[in-house]
Amino acid sequence: MELDFNFCGFNRSEFFKNEYKQKIKDIHKKLHQNDHSIGTTWVDWPIKYDKNELILIQSLAKKIQDNSDVLLVVGIGGSYLGAKAGIDMLQKNNKLEIIFAGTNLDFSDLKRKLEKIKNKDVTVNVISKSGTTIEILVTLNIIEKFMKNKYNEDYKSRIIFTTDKNKGYLRERANTEGIQTLSVPDDMGGRYSVLSAVGLLPFAVAGINIKNILKGAGRAYKDLSECSIELNLAYQYAIYRHYVYTHINKKVEIYSSFSTKLASFGLWLQQLFCESEGKAGKGLFVSTLGYTTDLHSVGQYIQQGSQIVAETFMYVKNPNCDCIISKVQTDSPIYFLNGKTINDINNAAFYGTIKAHMDAKVPIVVLIFDKINEYNFGYLVYFFELACATSAYLLQVNPFDQPGVEQYKRYMKDCLN
Ligand code: PA5
Repeated sequence: MELDFNFCGFNRSEFFKNEYKQKIKDIHKKLHQNDHSIGTTWVDWPIKYDKNELILIQSLAKKIQDNSDVLLVVGIGGSYLGAKAGIDMLQKNNKLEIIFAGTNLDFSDLKRKLEKIKNKDVTVNVISKSGTTIEILVTLNIIEKFMKNKYNEDYKSRIIFTTDKNKGYLRERANTEGIQTLSVPDDMGGRYSVLSAVGLLPFAVAGINIKNILKGAGRAYKDLSECSIELNLAYQYAIYRHYVYTHINKKVEIYSSFSTKLASFGLWLQQLFCESEGKAGKGLFVSTLGYTTDLHSVGQYIQQGSQIVAETFMYVKNPNCDCIISKVQTDSPIYFLNGKTINDINNAAFYGTIKAHMDAKVPIVVLIFDKINEYNFGYLVYFFELACATSAYLLQVNPFDQPGVEQYKRYMKDCLN
């Protein structure tokens, strides 16, 4: 993975100032201290993950592949966005379908999904660290009736709870009713949990090689364990974001990509950064766009609207497939593209967009990786988790809490009492 800062519009030597050096040193120490109680279990997870649980995940995945057509994943926020990102990026064949539920309270959505799978064999994976999230428990209530109707009392053998190791409603129910469980590790918040059972079970069921994901994350852990701005790309990227926010006065960061496979990854990034940094009146608002689709809509704003946007492009060097444009008629407006491939044209759109956005003085950084695969997914996840936590600490906010989310949950309960 590379980061290209050549299009950012300012001198990178700003990053290496003493002010940042000392701050990064302090943050590095905090993230790598042995006490994980502040929420840093994810930091050395790529080398310390639970090997026995990995074996259990693989055997459960095999069982589900053998006896189900559909895995219904019930989770919200950090308990689903990472899994969805990985599946949309990596799943190759859709023999076994992964469907996400519990992501809203619009019953028409759940009804449509259940209708679609009523004649199929289904396993349900409910993911909730707290085990108390209303969207999840309400959805589970409805899904349990659906499953009971299909499988009678035996339906519980088709349910897996991924939840806190020791506490919460789901853990207690699992203990008393003998429901299969997997664990969300201690001191690992939802948005930092995709490399645990939260993401790994859905990935394994989807036929994605989870060992390669962990290998990629392990490599990122190694590459990014240096307390050095010069060598550590995650720290460079965190400083870049901080500089763009505090010195260039940008308020929004857009993750853009020309690959549709990265769309859900962009949504995971949106949550990771917004929930980690958006506190105490601070933080870049993070969003994601898919090009060229959004160049025909939002692109106009980025170039000529309020000058509040910075942009991170995610660029895949070698897309998985391509197609030649051939036999174009001489009078066609695209005759000049005869013999070019779709990827040639997509690349031209990429460079053209960079040029146009640079003309508009949008600070741009390009994150380049060679191809979409399991290893790179694991690498990117770890890179962004580290960059995000560092970036939040540079803003002097806690990357691992979400007081706003808790407040919304409380107010919602109040309205129902
Ligand atoms: O990242 C987070 O911590 C949140 O988005 C949670 O994942 C989300 O609120 C769901 O919580 P839970 O897993 O407890 O159901």
